[in-house]
Amino acid sequence: RHELSGSVSLEELSDIDSPGSVQLVACGTSYHAALYVARLFRARGVPAQAHLASEYVTAPAPFDSDSLLIGITQSGETADTLSALREAQRRGASTLAVTNVVGSTAARECDHVVYIRAGPEIGVAATKTFSSQLATGNLLVERLCASGTKRTSESTRELIPALRDLPNQLQSVIDNSTAKSVVEEYVDYDAYFFIGRGLHRPVALEGALKFKEITYEHAEGFAAGELKHGPLALVTQRTPIFAVVTGNGERAQKTISNIKEVQARDAPVVAVTDEQSEVRRYANYTLEIPQTHPRIAPVLANTQLQLVAYHMADRMNRSIDKPRNLAKSVTVE
Ligand code: AGP
Repeated sequence: RHELSGSVSLEELSDIDSPGSVQLVACGTSYHAALYVARLFRARGVPAQAHLASEYVTAPAPFDSDSLLIGITQSGETADTLSALREAQRRGASTLAVTNVVGSTAARECDHVVYIRAGPEIGVAATKTFSSQLATGNLLVERLCASGTKRTSESTRELIPALRDLPNQLQSVIDNSTAKSVVEEYVDYDAYFFIGRGLHRPVALEGALKFKEITYEHAEGFAAGELKHGPLALVTQRTPIFAVVTGNGERAQKTISNIKEVQARDAPVVAVTDEQSEVRRYANYTLEIPQTHPRIAPVLANTQLQLVAYHMADRMNRSIDKPRNLAKSVTVE
């Protein structure tokens, strides 16, 4: 039905207008999803900014009467995110919760709610819910930015089949990933860096967060272009770089230039990539993802990085489902 109409309807959102601008608030993994969703809005010409919820409350960004404040929160109970949403509501903003938990506080308190419908997530580290946040973010942007223009419907028509293929493609990444043998090469190194550009930047940040959460090893994610503005000083032959590069466009070429910069410092490079990219010529190892829509490639790339974190944590005998010091739902600010 979606392919025929070229538009997306979300049953929870029957009574919402297209926003003039969007602000997103979230924490941790959900913040990385917010960074991704903000880019999707901006690509549609809607001003959008993602904020760390804990920082938003200290200086809320100004908004207009047609602004929408979106809180992304798997649990719907994260105190920092709830505070940011409440502060925005107090100042008169219209609010929308994107959450996994039906009847959660965020779902009850916001003016609108969209459920990511990922099912219960037992492990402390968010995994399938991040994938679902990105997928739902795509549908949300299609729904809210539907202006009936030709461009809109074409973009939706290409996206929906890619989303439909996503479960099978994710399964094939899980079945065929070589992450286990790749991480074996890099056990007990000094630190692990993750880089990506554009929609792959949130994936790099998320890859590093997942890695540090469950391996307890030092990991950092950077925008690929930022490396040369400081982090490059940390790069040695003992700091593997996980680089997310797909396609062969200008962005991919620029990230490949960044990869050459780290290689000149003897750092090993693992590229998460698709068949179009020539990055394989420069990487020590590649982790392959199937060809898909450019907006969906980050979901598949992220799954490879989740497997990297998982296999490294397993190799190090870490408590993968219950990492030390962390709770599934953070209900204090
Ligand atoms: C993810 O692996 C983390 N455990 C954490 O960053 C989490 O995403 C964050 O606390 C936000 O939780 P929420 O999505 O339930 O609001």
